[in-house]
Amino acid sequence: MRGIFITLEGVDGCGKSTLAKSLKSYFESRGRETVLTREPRGKIRELLLNSKELPDAAELLLMEASRSEHTETFIKPALAENKIVICDRYFDSTTAYQGCARGLKSDIIEVLNNFATGGLKPDLTLLLDIDAETGLGRQDGIDRISASGLAFMEKVRRGYLDAAAKEPERIAVIDASEPKEKVFDEAVKITEERLTI
Ligand code: TYD
Repeated sequence: MRGIFITLEGVDGCGKSTLAKSLKSYFESRGRETVLTREPRGKIRELLLNSKELPDAAELLLMEASRSEHTETFIKPALAENKIVICDRYFDSTTAYQGCARGLKSDIIEVLNNFATGGLKPDLTLLLDIDAETGLGRQDGIDRISASGLAFMEKVRRGYLDAAAKEPERIAVIDASEPKEKVFDEAVKITEERLTI
């Protein structure tokens, strides 16, 4: 038995957290035990989001350290217990933020993503696509990374869309400029089409 692993991705302010909560209620109403989680997490999250200065390489390695801990101690055990795991950001965030936007080498990122996850891939990734300016206008808190500016967030968006174009069978793109009810309906439709809940 193995649960289902769903990740939510998108630029800051795209509405992932709202969708995560609605999906959790929906899956639970269908009788599936569902856990919500996010990256980066714990003490490493504090370092990543609140450090005054952090070299790009250190940022990448801390994201991967958080991912490794999270994958081994939380995600894999939950999947082994047949739960649905909804994760707000996973390795596609690193591809888009540290790779495309910060400009770190994509082959290094691919190796580290694979190393940190032990090869675990989401069964489905929902990419909430919205233009960077709208996203930045919507976000509720600003941290060190989301403070990187509009040009940075435009590159993040491009990184995500490129990833979706490469792996359309895993990554589904949803228009996140629509009202949240419509985004939820679309997410449910895609989930039902692609997964057996
Ligand atoms: P998050 O709390 O999801 O921010 P938001 O709720 O604003 O979407 O993530 C915190 C920040 O960390 C966000 O700016 C994206 C960044 N991040 C990366 O740069 N790389 C990564 O691999 C991950 C997981 C997050």
